[in-house]
Amino acid sequence: MNIAVVGTGYVGLVSGTCFAETGNHVICVDNNESKVESLQNGQLTIYEPGLELLFGRNTKEGRLTFTTDLEYAIKKSEIIFLALPTPPGEDGSADLSYVLGVAEQLGEMMDDYKVIVDKSTVPVGTAEKVTAAIAKKAKVDFDVVSNPEFLREGVAVDDFLKPDRVVIGTSSERAQKVMHRLYEPFVRQGNPIYFMDERSAEMTKYAANSYLATRITFMNEIANLCEIVGANVDMVRIGMGSDSRIGKRFLFPGVGYGGSCFPKDVQALAKTAKDNDYDFNILNSVMNVNNRQKHVLSEKIIKHFGGDLTGRTIALWGLAFKPNTDDIREAPAIYIIEDLLAAGATVTAYDPEAMENMRALFGDKVNFVEHRYDALKDASCLAIVTEWSIFRTPDFSYIAELMKEKVIFDGRNLYSLEDMEEIGFYYNSIGRNSIDKKKSKSKTLS
Ligand code: UDX
Repeated sequence: MNIAVVGTGYVGLVSGTCFAETGNHVICVDNNESKVESLQNGQLTIYEPGLELLFGRNTKEGRLTFTTDLEYAIKKSEIIFLALPTPPGEDGSADLSYVLGVAEQLGEMMDDYKVIVDKSTVPVGTAEKVTAAIAKKAKVDFDVVSNPEFLREGVAVDDFLKPDRVVIGTSSERAQKVMHRLYEPFVRQGNPIYFMDERSAEMTKYAANSYLATRITFMNEIANLCEIVGANVDMVRIGMGSDSRIGKRFLFPGVGYGGSCFPKDVQALAKTAKDNDYDFNILNSVMNVNNRQKHVLSEKIIKHFGGDLTGRTIALWGLAFKPNTDDIREAPAIYIIEDLLAAGATVTAYDPEAMENMRALFGDKVNFVEHRYDALKDASCLAIVTEWSIFRTPDFSYIAELMKEKVIFDGRNLYSLEDMEEIGFYYNSIGRNSIDKKKSKSKTLS
């Protein structure tokens, strides 16, 4: 099949590459000339594990190409994916100007029946708006389909190639057939393609992301309470998750959710509810609690050192909002660094992928180091913010040599309490008793 993907951001690049991988001819379009030039020269513009291999293979074999020429791509393709940004406007609602702007151009350019697919996360009712925008100038038949993505950064290629499900919103049988043909190779292991109306498909995406954000937030609240009452959230999590109605995944407490999706989608769904005079109470709480959670680790550190960090170095391990990405959008690390700097600390930081992005934000205010252990020299505290695998089994005796004080604040519960007790660090994590050798037995921090 011939496919155009408009927008070579994260979703566009992953989708375009994976569609090429199943033998389709994919033209990716972007109006950013330097981006298109890099991609034409074989340089990927995002970091995503596994993508480089597929990108290299499909560009080499000519199935994946890049252009700034929208009209050329449209005329060549039977399916056109819109993978354009929908940034939150000031009021939290998704800004549709990119999507609708391109939709209007499509109407003029189309010379034959096309299926236009909304891949961006867009509010309920957008498929109708896109249809209207295209119809203004269209002289040929077309169908607009809503096909939300459920890609997690870091494992997006796998998520795309082996989706739990594919959701397709369309009321047109003709478009259904086209979309079925396109996605059938991705669900051969037996996972479903769900066809539904456009509005339900649009809502499914928001509901899924908001539910997951709520689930994490609920666990963060449980963790905070566990600390106060002296329970261990890791045990509670396992005990809860074994109930098949709950399930074990996505129950990890931490320093709050971040990224490009959850914060934006929760906010947009709350706004949709508000616009329709519905008070979606849970979502408002989720946003408030998550904003608070992003400060939990820094507040504990500041409290531990008596309210002032002047003259102390605090080392951060992890800056990305989660492992295996360089993405720092809404990353808890941003808020943690701001708090620590405001309390007078010298902040040193290491992340395997996200340091350049964070440097662009903080410049010289943070001391970025090339090796994880370099961050620890003369540090009074190590704060773990992202659970990169490289941080999971460090050399604690070397860490003890490097640091001024043996203090770890772990925002991701990477280490077992037993190990930390044996090693003799002051160790404070999320939702578990803190370990304090000096006080001979573990104590709870409230
Ligand atoms: C998410 C959705 O999972 C994906 O389906 C959607 O298409 C886009 O948004 P992503 O933002 O890439 O994907 O990351 P995800 O792995 O879902 O994590 C989101 C945030 O939740 C991260 O900040 C992560 O640290 C946090 N999280 C996740 C937890 O705090 N605890 C968990 O148990 C899981």
